[in-house]
Amino acid sequence: MKGGGAIRSGSGGGGGLMRTRLRLPVVLLSCSLFFLAGFFGSLLFTQDPQGEEELERPLSRERLMEAVWPEMAYGDSGDPAPSLIPYQILSWQPRALYFPQFATSEQCENVVKTAKARLRPSTLALRKGETEETTKGIRTSSGTFLSADEDPTRTLAEVEKKIAKATMIPRSHGEPFNVLRYEIGQKYASHYDAFDPAQYGPQKSQRVASFLLYLTDVEEGGETMFPYENGENMDIGYDYEQCIGLKVKPRKGDGLLFYSLMVNGTIDLTSLHGSCPVIKGEKWVATKWIRNKTV
Ligand SMILES: *[C@@H]1O[C@H](CO)[C@@H](O)[C@H](O)[C@H]1NC(C)=O
Repeated sequence: MKGGGAIRSGSGGGGGLMRTRLRLPVVLLSCSLFFLAGFFGSLLFTQDPQGEEELERPLSRERLMEAVWPEMAYGDSGDPAPSLIPYQILSWQPRALYFPQFATSEQCENVVKTAKARLRPSTLALRKGETEETTKGIRTSSGTFLSADEDPTRTLAEVEKKIAKATMIPRSHGEPFNVLRYEIGQKYASHYDAFDPAQYGPQKSQRVASFLLYLTDVEEGGETMFPYENGENMDIGYDYEQCIGLKVKPRKGDGLLFYSLMVNGTIDLTSLHGSCPVIKGEKWVATKWIRNKTV
């Protein structure tokens, strides 16, 4: 009897084990079902095309992400949760990234308003032998330099923080914003943002990357162009005036980041770029030049 009991208990134990083995998948399955229901439920919720949910979509998506991704320990200077900054690689030669809806409409309008009162004709960094007279017509926009602390709306500080986040280069490496307005016919002939010491003399620091935030939609023209994209047109005797190559259409709130230096620090010759003439409308853009040393 005892033996049978032992056997029974043994088999009973085995049965118990089998039951847990069976139960575990069932529990897991129902958990996943609940999870998926919640997941798609919230997706439906965030994609609700009506009402104010639409306006808050990025927020809802971030909340969703926090719910989906497990918590991660983070350092003193880190962020408490993942965030979404969508981007598209436009090119590897030059390294150019596009950030749709980087800033809100309201942020763009704030920057235009702050800059408007201070506009002056844009100037150029002159090469040896160049004068204002000989370089006339290369850059016909108006602009102003604005640092984040000169903006009473605090918008530029927010944008600057987000640029630092997107590039992982600290804010202290950024020059003040250069806010530019291009009216019909105005343009910027193709040029480099980095300074070749052979042409400009010795430099204290170098521009590594440029971040352009488009502040207005432009009806026609005003594209940012990269004539040498992928090594094209480098041997045609390009005159720096023509609007050719990879063209990025300005759209209000969108950002464009490109690197002027290669990873080893030499100037990337394919980072040559310019602003095509505005044909219809008005182009406003805020440029942040990012250097390899603190500014
Ligand atoms: C830097 O990198 C580029 C591209 O990889 C290469 O062509 C160039 O020779 C390098 N320059 C130096 C000084 O190492």
